[in-house]
Amino acid sequence: MTPIYLDHAATTPIAPEVLVRFRGLLEESVANSSSSHQEGTRALALLNQARESVARKLGCESNEVVFTSGGTEGSNWILQRVLQDAAKVMASRGSKPHLITSSIEHSSVANVAEWLKNSGVCEWTEVRAEADGTVGLSSIEDALRPNTVMVAVMHGNNEIGTIQDVQAIGRFCRSKDVLFFADACQTFCHTDFLVRDLSVDFMSFSGHKIRAPKGVGAVYVRKGLELTPFMFGGKQERGLRPGTTTVELICAFAAATELWDQTIVARLNNIRQYAVDQLKKNFTGLRINGRETGPSLCHVLSFTLESHHSKFLHRELSLLNVACSTGAACGTGKSDSSAVLLGLGRTEKDAHQIRISFSPSTELATIDAFIDRLGKAVKLLENRTTQ
Ligand SMILES: Cc1ncc(COP(=O)(O)O)c(C=O)c1O
Repeated sequence: MTPIYLDHAATTPIAPEVLVRFRGLLEESVANSSSSHQEGTRALALLNQARESVARKLGCESNEVVFTSGGTEGSNWILQRVLQDAAKVMASRGSKPHLITSSIEHSSVANVAEWLKNSGVCEWTEVRAEADGTVGLSSIEDALRPNTVMVAVMHGNNEIGTIQDVQAIGRFCRSKDVLFFADACQTFCHTDFLVRDLSVDFMSFSGHKIRAPKGVGAVYVRKGLELTPFMFGGKQERGLRPGTTTVELICAFAAATELWDQTIVARLNNIRQYAVDQLKKNFTGLRINGRETGPSLCHVLSFTLESHHSKFLHRELSLLNVACSTGAACGTGKSDSSAVLLGLGRTEKDAHQIRISFSPSTELATIDAFIDRLGKAVKLLENRTTQ
């Protein structure tokens, strides 16, 4: 049976154009961008061009972009350093910083917040998202304390696709003198935004979600803010992120960002809508998780069939050579429930889903084939229960 890959939110193949660029650079053996010889200067020029290109896409200045190994590193760096540095300052006043996150954050944010709290670095409040995944401004306002230092609310949710009004949250945080961090690993290139319009202070991005190789990403650090280094070593990335710069990966990341435009996003939105329509037409007891209308990621669709637990459906789909997921690939695997759906207030019993996710290479025919195999999976499960 031909494979169907609909797990692009977990990771998506490198775009052919990016692969050509990446392979070319690997074959050229790019020098160390910190070396002072001619080859090093050329490597530095490539790095600078890539930084400018990513900054242009983001709508920020190039010195506000620092390259990392990916989203997890970026989010860890921002959260740990901001809270730990604030804790040092506040200790002299006998106080501790307070962190607010939403109940639907990716594990690379949620687990850091939990660790910071358990290590005694900060106080932590997790505000509950509404049933469709919206993180309400009023819930953040209610959670605010005099010692709140940072609010972390992800831009777009990787499981249910809800996009937050980060502009409103950012404006609110700025009015209260609180730092605002948004994990933008799923929204970068998949939505049209310019950082300068959002009133965010920090953002994290990941290359392998946007058709670049794994192992590269970036953070946005608003000009004027200090993010102290997470690691110590050389002077790379202005001493903020030491280690020999992965020029080839960074150039591939920049090349991937350049491929995205609003035509692709519109096409993905059409594919998502087509998938919703086909699911509704072919299956009863269908629940779309997240928003049916309103801002959602163009490449993520989560649904639940009331008649069958997604764990069993997923197993059948997997046997039918369909790659989709029941939640984030980085989930803890502690239970069959999705932490995001639990974060919306669902019970353990109801917190299950099938997530399908798309890339620019996904065709409407891929969705037709998926619907066909989902029908087969349902029948196989029904036959099993009647046997
Ligand atoms: C929303 C979100 N944040 C962070 C990450 C982690 O990114 P990376 O795999 O680059 O560490 C992911 C990827 O799973 C994600 O979907």
